[in-house]
Amino acid sequence: MGKLDGKVAIITGGARGQGRSHALTLAREGADIVVCDIAAQIDTVPYPMATPADLEETVRLVEDLDRRCIAVQADVRDGAQMRAVAERAMGEFGRIDILLANAGIAGFASAWELTDEQWNDMIAVNLTGVWQSCKAVIPHMIAGGRGGSIVITSSTAGLKGFAGSAHYVATKHGVVGLMRTLAIELAPYNIRVNTVHPTGVNTPMVVNDYMREVLAASPQALTNLLPVEMVEPVDISNAILWLVSDDARYVTGVTLPVDAGFTVK
Ligand SMILES: NC(=O)c1ccc[n+]([C@@H]2O[C@H](COP(=O)([O-])OP(=O)(O)OC[C@H]3O[C@@H](n4cnc5c(N)ncnc54)[C@H](O)[C@@H]3O)[C@@H](O)[C@H]2O)c1
Repeated sequence: MGKLDGKVAIITGGARGQGRSHALTLAREGADIVVCDIAAQIDTVPYPMATPADLEETVRLVEDLDRRCIAVQADVRDGAQMRAVAERAMGEFGRIDILLANAGIAGFASAWELTDEQWNDMIAVNLTGVWQSCKAVIPHMIAGGRGGSIVITSSTAGLKGFAGSAHYVATKHGVVGLMRTLAIELAPYNIRVNTVHPTGVNTPMVVNDYMREVLAASPQALTNLLPVEMVEPVDISNAILWLVSDDARYVTGVTLPVDAGFTVK
């Protein structure tokens, strides 16, 4: 018996990193999975993004767990594409119980030196993309009449400021406002909405040449309270598994840090 037997989860940004780890964690508990990912490069993103091969690898790993998995190449910025992801999930599985709005991009520059393109792309992916994902899925959750759970991946940058990443920080705070509003709007339907706030996580978003250079310039900036340099994707997956399971059935509207004590420093 898994904690999520019979449930269906949509995970954005599921080609690699945390999204892939969430897919495997939820599948191990019995959920069938729909992953979507842009699986292509966005020009203003200063490190390599996921590829179609990454997306296929997530499918293979979920299927190895004897769960069903559909992958859709889709851009969270595009409402029509996100509606198509939700419709594909309904067509194949007939229900959507869980949405993990996890897709995101990062980048660094002083607030006054960001280009318009860097700012606009960040807002489009990390804030508008989360809203588009929710907007596409929520009508199906409501129509299903079984409740549901939405978890948005914010960041410690959604709880405090960080020099050098105003656009990222603004989006990660922005999704907290979206989450709090959705939690109120969706409570009558027994749909719960929460955010998770990871500290640095060992994924290709931060483990790359560009980020190594940025972090070397400010070594103290990302020091955790607990003695760990970075947490692992599964640490975020475990918190999300709890949030989407019945163990957290009356938890909604919360900002859950998984941050090795980073935000209380
Ligand atoms: N890695 C960290 O240190 C860290 C810390 C805090 C929060 N986060 C957040 O965690 C989430 C997951 O990031 P990760 O660490 O797994 O990084 P990652 O780069 O490995 O994964 C992010 C995935 O999102 C996909 N994506 C990006 N833009 C997209 C779009 N427009 N449409 C669809 N898919 C898109 C990418 O292709 C990639 O596969 C992000 O929201 C990120 O901001 C990461």
